[in-house]
Amino acid sequence: MHITDNQLAAALGAWRRPDAGLARALADAVGDATLDGRLRVGSRLPAERRAAAALGVSRGTVIAALGILRDEGRVDTRRGSASTLRLPPEATARIAPSSALGEDGAIDLRRAVPAAPHALYQRAVLRAAERSGPVLAESGETGPGLPELRSLIADRYTRERLATRPEQILITSGTRSALALLSTHLRPRAVAVEIPTYFDPLAGFRAIGTRLVGCRVTADGWDLDQLEDALRTATGGMAYLVPDFQNPTGALMPKAVRRTVARLAERHRVTVVVDETMRDLDLRDTPAPVQRIPGSILIGSAAKTIWAGLRVGWIRGPAALVGVLARHPLCEPLSAAPTQQLVAIELLRDLEPLLRDRRAVLRRQRDHLSGLLAGDDRWRFTVPPGGLALWLRLTTMRADLVTTRARAHGLELSPGPSFAADATHSHHLRLPYTPPISTLDRIATVLDLACPTIGRTSARPARR
Ligand SMILES: Cc1ncc(COP(=O)(O)O)c(C=O)c1O
Repeated sequence: MHITDNQLAAALGAWRRPDAGLARALADAVGDATLDGRLRVGSRLPAERRAAAALGVSRGTVIAALGILRDEGRVDTRRGSASTLRLPPEATARIAPSSALGEDGAIDLRRAVPAAPHALYQRAVLRAAERSGPVLAESGETGPGLPELRSLIADRYTRERLATRPEQILITSGTRSALALLSTHLRPRAVAVEIPTYFDPLAGFRAIGTRLVGCRVTADGWDLDQLEDALRTATGGMAYLVPDFQNPTGALMPKAVRRTVARLAERHRVTVVVDETMRDLDLRDTPAPVQRIPGSILIGSAAKTIWAGLRVGWIRGPAALVGVLARHPLCEPLSAAPTQQLVAIELLRDLEPLLRDRRAVLRRQRDHLSGLLAGDDRWRFTVPPGGLALWLRLTTMRADLVTTRARAHGLELSPGPSFAADATHSHHLRLPYTPPISTLDRIATVLDLACPTIGRTSARPARR
């Protein structure tokens, strides 16, 4: 099938971007339109001259854009014929780690994590090794982090309209290390946390004897009364929040609530630490810029956007705080190995194409799993605007029992109470949509077997 000039212009819409050259922006727009299905995979683009006229650019721009698309495996061009659209290799590649595929029997979904983007990662490791000479000639202690990596991360914040200098960035081996360093330095008497939230930080806070005060969050948002109460109770302490596609609910904190958090935190002298690990996993159809909580300390990680095994994360805060943290005795042991920082530089330098592909795969998988589970009265859920998982409220049985029954069918899940500082949420279950469609079908079948129907205690047979 041939794409006409008009179809191409209509599918791309307003594709020019202030942050990219014409060829790059055009290539990205064609790639996005293919991933979104506005341009069909396998169809042929108009000839260069005609595409240039339809889009109001020079033929050279179209040729350069096609070159980029070819290099990224998004089009095929045979000598003398039109360019054919392809899905990029990353979009057809699976995101889930092998343990979540169930190829050897069990599907392990206790962690919602992606596998590394293999080819990209291996190329980055090779390039990092080639460039490692000066780093290997040093002591191996990186203090606040390699200057190039700190600059790269600072520049990304600045591009997102949060002006940041490299001195405001401290590299750690992930967000858990960032939290360990911050909480050891701040020594908060109490920490305000969302209920439910990412479970590992809860264990970390408990390990240092900090009191946890909870604030309820659902897929529909934050309970403002509880938020206020939690911040008041944590006076002089810390808050650990995940406002962007919160784990496990997927909720996105509205701008007004962010301002309220900032106001309350200031009033009660609470240091707000915001975990932005999920921020790039925005699966909305028309993503709009997401505001930040003014005055908060940000922690980030490559764990979900690239790979948890990279073990590179960071803290963004006032330069004075970063300076103090850099002198903390735990800074070095909690920092990322210099060779890992080199790999991170290679991958973070051009993260956008990888993110685009990941988001497209995740959106498809989220919609598929939501479609399989929709309309069943044994659970309720809201399709999350981002993140990696559905958060199911079970209506017929406790989540720990469903988890045990699912395990008997080879599916490992995390039940609600593990996410709750107060061990509540006994009827909730986190269901990651990181696996490919065929595995999601199996997961839905297991859930069907493990969850009794209303009014019955035995599982009903699979519908599929
Ligand atoms: C909210 C959140 N933060 C951070 C992480 C990862 O932490 P780290 O960077 O230490 O691997 C996860 C992984 O599940 C998470 O859900």
